[in-house]
Amino acid sequence: MAEVRLDGVVKRYRGLAHDALQETSVTFKDGLFTCILGPSGSGKTTILKLLAGIEEVTSGRIQFDGVDVTNVTPERRDVAMVFQSYALYPNMTARDNIAFPLQLRGLPRAERYRRVDDVAAMLGIGPTLDRQPRQLSGGERQRVALGRAIVREPKVFLLDEPISNLDANLRMTTREELKRIHAELKATFIYVTHDQDDASAMGDEVVVMAAGRIHQADKPSDVYHRPADRFVASFLGRLPMNFLTGTVSDGDGSMLLHGEGGLAIDLGPRANGFRTPEGQVLIGIRPESVLATRAVGATTGVVGKVTLTEVVPPDSYVTASVDGWSVRARVVEGDELQPGDSVRLRFSLRTMHFFDPSSEQRLETASVEEPS
Ligand SMILES: Nc1ncnc2c1ncn2[C@@H]1O[C@H](COP(=O)(O)OP(=O)(O)OP(=O)(O)O)[C@@H](O)[C@H]1O
Ligand SMILES: [Mg+2]
Repeated sequence: MAEVRLDGVVKRYRGLAHDALQETSVTFKDGLFTCILGPSGSGKTTILKLLAGIEEVTSGRIQFDGVDVTNVTPERRDVAMVFQSYALYPNMTARDNIAFPLQLRGLPRAERYRRVDDVAAMLGIGPTLDRQPRQLSGGERQRVALGRAIVREPKVFLLDEPISNLDANLRMTTREELKRIHAELKATFIYVTHDQDDASAMGDEVVVMAAGRIHQADKPSDVYHRPADRFVASFLGRLPMNFLTGTVSDGDGSMLLHGEGGLAIDLGPRANGFRTPEGQVLIGIRPESVLATRAVGATTGVVGKVTLTEVVPPDSYVTASVDGWSVRARVVEGDELQPGDSVRLRFSLRTMHFFDPSSEQRLETASVEEPS
């Protein structure tokens, strides 16, 4: 087991105009399953390569359990990395591919194969062990690559999108298996993915990255419910979050939101202990938190016109135009809406996210107890 730490690490590749990794400090906790989540090119694989020691840091330090390993060779770091491209030895059977690290250690053949059988059973690839990589499907190859890492029993697992080739069902069961394997091995898992479902299904913690920078490191539910900035807010969620720049003010017992183009939304009474930032704010609200109902002769509330309908099982959504603002909303069960229909939208203060319009950082809205 090991706690893994990057301390002020920068990575610059030759020929790349920007830093692949801007100055970054982050701790991957001992024995936890941490997912690094971010779009393509954000620097996820770069972090794994630095931790594995197959790329050198440009500056900064790397520590395992408080010991500086910045200049330690990959072989002496006791980490196993499963690459995005799962490089298997093409002329070896799956069994020998998995057994290879044990052969390097000089384990006797019978012992090697016994351990391979255990790992293969764990991964459900027993029947493929006598085949060569070219005789395996992409998903099976990924499992063999995983097996080769597991059989080494390292302190740290570095997994780079190891299940991206699996179909949806197999992906789901493999996630469960990986969690089980993690619980059994109690090692530190660092798992790179661009799939938020991977992160929320497996991650004890999630590190959200974009353009070489960590935007948030938190529990999966926190990155979803309390995104640290606009990027995290927009990257997570089934459907894109709605954003609106506006001014919030305290009306007559009610919070009022004035957007551009004459849009005015009554957000309801200020909830107990909930501090709404007043003044210019960037507001984010998830489509699932805006409720759309058919508006028959409605004159109060927020009324808009449906421009688009879509189904995201089990719910239906509409996109509506309200005073020039295009907003996506969840249709209340039982209502059927068509483009052109009048729709009433309900917003709640509780489910809104408030960001500083210039820095795009989250504005704190949690209740703060004043010392008495
Ligand atoms: N050896 C290299 N030389 C130059 N630039 C590189 C090298 N490796 C990566 N990069 C660049 O560094 C940035 C980060 O790359 P990285 O592979 O870490 O991204 P990633 O988040 O893993 O993306 P993906 O999800 O597509 O795998 C990218 O802009 C990439 O083009
Ligand atoms: Mg990558």
